[in-house]
Amino acid sequence: MTDANRVLIFDTTLRDGEQSPGATMSHAEKLEIASLLDEMGVDIIEAGFPIASEGDFAAVSEIARAAQNATICGLARANFKDIDRCWEAVKHAKSPRIHTFIGTSPLHRQIPNLTQDEMADRIHETVTHARNLCDNVQWSPMDATRTEFDYLCRVIEIAIKAGATTINIPDTVGYTAPRESAELIRRLIAEIPGAGDVVFATHCHNDLGMATANSLAAVEAGARQVECTINGLGERAGNTALEEVVMAVKTRHDIMPFTTGVDTTKIMHISRRVATVSGFAVQPNKAIVGKNAFAHESGIHQDGMLKNPENFEIMRPEDVGLSATNLVMGKHSGRAALRSKLAELGYEMGDNQLKDVFVRFKELADRKKEVFDDDLVALMRDASTDPADEYLKVKFLRVVCGTQAPQSADITLTVAGEDQQATAQGDGPVDAAFNAVKAIYPHNARLQLYQVHAVTEGTDAQATVTVRMEEDGVLATGEAADTDTVVASAKAYVTALNRLRVRKEKLGGKDTREVSYKDAG
Ligand code: KIV
Ligand code: ZN
Repeated sequence: MTDANRVLIFDTTLRDGEQSPGATMSHAEKLEIASLLDEMGVDIIEAGFPIASEGDFAAVSEIARAAQNATICGLARANFKDIDRCWEAVKHAKSPRIHTFIGTSPLHRQIPNLTQDEMADRIHETVTHARNLCDNVQWSPMDATRTEFDYLCRVIEIAIKAGATTINIPDTVGYTAPRESAELIRRLIAEIPGAGDVVFATHCHNDLGMATANSLAAVEAGARQVECTINGLGERAGNTALEEVVMAVKTRHDIMPFTTGVDTTKIMHISRRVATVSGFAVQPNKAIVGKNAFAHESGIHQDGMLKNPENFEIMRPEDVGLSATNLVMGKHSGRAALRSKLAELGYEMGDNQLKDVFVRFKELADRKKEVFDDDLVALMRDASTDPADEYLKVKFLRVVCGTQAPQSADITLTVAGEDQQATAQGDGPVDAAFNAVKAIYPHNARLQLYQVHAVTEGTDAQATVTVRMEEDGVLATGEAADTDTVVASAKAYVTALNRLRVRKEKLGGKDTREVSYKDAG
């Protein structure tokens, strides 16, 4: 194995992933995800788009200050104002990077309405400017895979001469296919003067379900940076999934002799955290991180697995951070056992937090015969330490439901420490519970997403509920778990309202994300 086969992992969960409508994360959540990425050995973290809003700027700056290992990168359109703002945010990092881009395809050239020559000049000026600020500059010709090959070569050469150190080739609309992806990278590296002095990166979108295949094909052709997101989070069909690329090269090292710096045992934990904070659940049959990815339910499979796991498993669950046995504890399990099980699942905690989680674990174990790993993950999801979540709290809830409409709910909420009670009717128990919350805490927020998942099998399974609310363009997501679906729903609803309240206060009543990377720079 030589260094020439080392592939850099560039994670853009917090920029391209967070841009997908509805995936907005809070400041604290962005810091948490960045720290998990840093710990797991991602090489470059694209932490946000600093010019987009005060919130993005603050998140990128703080992530830059906190990062221990990874290079911290910010996105900037091809203008001095974006680039300066980006530098202001990333300059605090031990290893900062500016990523600047412009759409180079015929369609994208129309956005800023520039001729080919004018665009070439703009690229020269902006990359030079970025390079004067920072030694580490990435340049991307957006929609590269639909850009005329000759023009693409011309602008990449300009960017390299102006000082770009990484050239990223985005398949912005998920249009390419593996053979074409490989061919493009191979030809660019072969034909552009100076190409050997920079790192070529691949950035694929999954519109045709080929993002991972396209990225790996690009690596085989010479790309040495893969841009990706956890769970493939991203606009439309998403971006290349980090876990797929990393596990593909680890598992098929025989035919893809590449290495990454990622500690794969951290994959499951970060996948769950990203799913929770983004509100984008992972589909059960998703490669690597789906709930069923390592489940062997059919009789024949189970028999074969017992004889030899390799019969049906190409990867070991432990390699992605799943424990070999999922059945954990019951009501007789002690605090030390809980601490060690949670650590195995990626949750390290202090004594006070453990005390609180232990009480909740005992309550759950009283209601549920068997407590599985997934139950503990759901419990942890609920164990918020965010002070914002304290304002409204569900203290008591009783619903009357059945075949006879309307259903009704009695609720007691603690509002800033004071109990308030209301009764309301609704179209079903969840609607009645939400109406009762609204009677106590009137608001104009609109329900954008209501999602229920059973954590494990069985009628005593916990339900995890995700609720996303929107008001004046400000979004907030709440999640909660309980063996009672209506209770979980009410708790998730209240958490979303708490977070919305704090976000609206911070943003002065409006979402300050004023520009998108799709606006002409
Ligand atoms: O998909 C894309 O083209 C992008 C660029 C900003 C790199 O995300
Ligand atoms: Zn993208």
